Amino acid sequence: MHYSFSLTLPLLLLCFPFLSISSTNQQHAKKNLQPNSMEPSELEILFKIMDSMSSDQTWRISYPNPCKPGSSWMGIECKAGNDSHLHVTRLDFGSPPNPSCKIKSIFPSQIFDLPYLQSAIFSQCFTHTKTTLTISQNSYFNSKLQQLSLRSNPALIGSIPPQIFTLKSLQTLTLSQNRLTGPIPKEICSLTSLEHLDLSYNFLSGILPKQLGNLKNLVVLDLSYNSLTKLIPDTIGQMGMLQKLDLSSNLLTGSLPNSIEKLNSLVFMALSNNRLKGNFPKGLTKLQSLQYFIMDDNPMFIPLPAEFGQLRKLQELRLANSGYSGTIPPIFSQLQNLSTLSLQNNRLIGVIPAGFGNLSHIYHLNLSRNLLGGEVPFTSTFFQRLGKNLDLSGNPGLCLSPAEAYGVKKIGVNICGINKTTSLIKPLKHSEASSLGFTKLFFLVNFFLLLYLHQILF
Ligand SMILES: *[C@@H]1O[C@H](CO)[C@@H](O)[C@H](O)[C@H]1NC(C)=O
Ligand SMILES: *[C@@H]1O[C@H](CO)[C@@H](O)[C@H](O)[C@H]1NC(C)=O
Ligand SMILES: *[C@@H]1O[C@H](CO)[C@@H](O)[C@H](O)[C@H]1NC(C)=O
Ligand SMILES: *[C@@H]1O[C@H](CO)[C@@H](O)[C@H](O)[C@H]1NC(C)=O
Ligand SMILES: *[C@@H]1O[C@H](CO)[C@@H](O)[C@H](O)[C@H]1NC(C)=O
Repeated sequence: MHYSFSLTLPLLLLCFPFLSISSTNQQHAKKNLQPNSMEPSELEILFKIMDSMSSDQTWRISYPNPCKPGSSWMGIECKAGNDSHLHVTRLDFGSPPNPSCKIKSIFPSQIFDLPYLQSAIFSQCFTHTKTTLTISQNSYFNSKLQQLSLRSNPALIGSIPPQIFTLKSLQTLTLSQNRLTGPIPKEICSLTSLEHLDLSYNFLSGILPKQLGNLKNLVVLDLSYNSLTKLIPDTIGQMGMLQKLDLSSNLLTGSLPNSIEKLNSLVFMALSNNRLKGNFPKGLTKLQSLQYFIMDDNPMFIPLPAEFGQLRKLQELRLANSGYSGTIPPIFSQLQNLSTLSLQNNRLIGVIPAGFGNLSHIYHLNLSRNLLGGEVPFTSTFFQRLGKNLDLSGNPGLCLSPAEAYGVKKIGVNICGINKTTSLIKPLKHSEASSLGFTKLFFLVNFFLLLYLHQILF
């Protein structure tokens, strides 16, 4: 997951400059106006919110004027309005340095009644008392809320309410790592200002609404780790701004829609662990911004497409456990920025392309458990550079030239010209066979060897 974070953060900063501006505004307000207080009604709403969030029973008494500069409390941000009042613009609880939430916190739906609120962020807040995301019909229809982030709240259950459509100004909606169930309401798709939609790590079910295509300003769409079913809608191609698309670990079927070729800003695409099948759209090669293509664990069962070799910006290409057959296209060695290539557990045959030894950025190469053969085209420098991040095991036909093999630690490949049976017996030595993984590998290797002998003999 490291790339998802490193990618998301810059995107966030890019997309939401107001996040960093707000403090300057506050200083500006302090200098020019001498705003005295909050409107009593807004103050009362804030007190109610704090009653349900803060473990400090005397909060009302300790902070009678919570927005007043100087007395202002971490986690609450205020700005002066035209009306010489101070207004709550940001609530941020749960993750340090902001205040933590009390054990029995429940979701404070009063936040939607704060007319000037721009950001509401609650993480690790709703952990014990079951609570739902409630947006009452009476909520403020001219909501100024731009960011709603509810993350890592194991007691946040129920579905995403259709009333979410009232939050017209939303640019960021993060509901990740909660226990939300039910479908993705199609009303979300009317929030056309959305730039960042993250519903990952919940128990959402049902289909991807075709209206998702209305979200033309979306930069990040993360629906990973849910139970979403059926096809990826063709309308996905309308999200022309999309830079990150993560649909991993769902129950999606069918193949990638042809419209995907229009997503020419896409940098990161992850589709692992679904039920997607071949073939890839012809226009795949138009995704010239792609740096990460992560699609392990799908029942593809097609020849490994050479088209990936034309996505020259690729840094990470993962296509493991997916029934790919045929040879590794030599054009893959033109992916000069590739740092990770995972093709393990497929049915690939033929040789390792000679050019792979020239991939100067490669750091992790896993070709294990295929049917590759011939001499491994790597120099000892290459072996040393990758070390344990090179995995060629479980390819009974592969062998190392005796010259390169000298000094190379055991990588599960035989030396060319040396009897297979004798060298395969090596791993049975007690010290090495002790780990379970090694034993499994040994059986697998034996299995392939039998298969291989069977093919030769019959
Ligand atoms: C602030 O005042 C200006 C001019 O009086 C007005 O145009 C604007 O809409 C006001 N803004 C808010 C947020 O009320
Ligand atoms: C490879 O990475 C380098 C450094 O990040 C970059 O300057 C270059 O444009 C990349 N090459 C391609 C084909 O994207
Ligand atoms: C790898 O690079 C070397 C040196 O630049 C070159 O001589 C060789 O032809 C390249 N091999 C392949 C297969 O591209
Ligand atoms: C390569 O893939 C296999 C099978 O998924 C895995 O067990 C192994 O740890 C991987 N090797 C490396 C070096 O990542
Ligand atoms: C390889 O193994 C076979 C069968 O065990 C044996 O007959 C043959 O002599 C061995 N060859 C070498 C080079 O060790």
